Amino acid sequence: MIKVSVDVDNIETAVSSEELLQVEREMETHFQTLISQSGAGRDFLGWLTLPADVNDDLVARIDAEANSLRGNVEYMVVLGIGGSYLGTRAVVESLGHSFSMLNNGGNSPKILYAGQNISEDYIADLLDVLDKKDYALCVISKSGTTTETAIAFRILKAHIEEKYGVESARKRIIAITDKAKGALKKLADSEGYSTYVIPDDVGGRYSVLTPVGLLPVAVAGLNIRKLLDGAGCMQRHLAAPSSLKENPAIIYAAARNALYRKGKNVEIMVTYEPRLVSLTEWWKQLYGESEGKQHKGIFPAGVNFTTDLHSMGQYIQDGQRIIFETVLSVANSQRKVVIPENKENLDGLNFIAGKKLSEVNHVAESGTLLAHIDGGVPNIRISIPRLDEECLGQLIYFYEFACALSGYALGVNPFDQPGVEAYKNNMFALLGKPGYEAETKQMADKVKSGTNN
Ligand code: PA5
Repeated sequence: MIKVSVDVDNIETAVSSEELLQVEREMETHFQTLISQSGAGRDFLGWLTLPADVNDDLVARIDAEANSLRGNVEYMVVLGIGGSYLGTRAVVESLGHSFSMLNNGGNSPKILYAGQNISEDYIADLLDVLDKKDYALCVISKSGTTTETAIAFRILKAHIEEKYGVESARKRIIAITDKAKGALKKLADSEGYSTYVIPDDVGGRYSVLTPVGLLPVAVAGLNIRKLLDGAGCMQRHLAAPSSLKENPAIIYAAARNALYRKGKNVEIMVTYEPRLVSLTEWWKQLYGESEGKQHKGIFPAGVNFTTDLHSMGQYIQDGQRIIFETVLSVANSQRKVVIPENKENLDGLNFIAGKKLSEVNHVAESGTLLAHIDGGVPNIRISIPRLDEECLGQLIYFYEFACALSGYALGVNPFDQPGVEAYKNNMFALLGKPGYEAETKQMADKVKSGTNN
């Protein structure tokens, strides 16, 4: 059963129903392009059938690896950046205990992250923690050459080998990378690490349902079979031509593109659950890196309410009218906390005594929605009944599918990321990487002329 629903009734202040219908019709053409695999980036459509393609043998191998780590290590450090860690973090934090870092919420190893920055202080602090804990490493890079990940791995590999000895360290390192190419693949083969393959036709930001996400998510104690089944259910639903009018991905992609054409250039993903902050980060990469090309694309931003109502609420309500919001609404909380009665009632809150906190959170959501609509902020609402593996699997696949449609509607290739190379080339040139001599000279000249000016 489909658990994700999309409501676009509240965009009518900016887009008429005829205008929306027009974009929905266009979207049906993009749907055909995607399903027939005939559009731009067609070599990177492996994610379309991933939920069905991940077979039971792979799930069993991952679960066995996760079980052997459970009980043996307290922490697993996931080393990766962009699509090689954001999906993991999104799932682990959306479904895990909010304070798992403090050892609450079960016996599974806690997941830590490295290789997603080059901060000296961050790594030094992480080494402080790892000095005192039993840990394993999971290094993830499709290209096998990403600088941030490679630097962090060099440092942590030295640490783990020093701590456990080279032989034992090898048994604590898992590599997830390309089947044949890249420095990481070479290293993994020569060291004999347990290795998993990222399929050629799945790009980083679409890879959460490959071992990239599945392995660390399983280590965190979550049920990857249910996650895949949820995604599979959405895959079948979205691909069925009979449901085009009821296709939530078409409805979402059409609404956001109709708003974009009316000058709403910024989409803020709104959540009311702090544990969804990382899911928003994953969504930001998915949409930002897929759509931001040729000087086009909706800028994806994120806010977590009610926290950010006290920081960003003013701008959203009353600032430039370039924003639309998409609320990811979760109907039921996992836990129950009731507001207590208080005899003195000095804080004046007895009028909500006996209510569950989630009831108050939902009222805040409704009140904010009304205020924003009144203030001219169009609103899309994506609803799921609860946060569990099945719903999250559906949601992930839904977002990916809608993103592909949306990219095609913008006229860009949603599966490449040419703009990411620019900073890397400059960094390599400035660091004097062999092979970049000409660029190093060019950069030095630029810096010099910048200083002279
Ligand atoms: O979505 C993408 O392709 C990127 O965000 C990559 O995942 C990121 O740059 C890391 O690349 P790699 O996995 O090759 O280290």
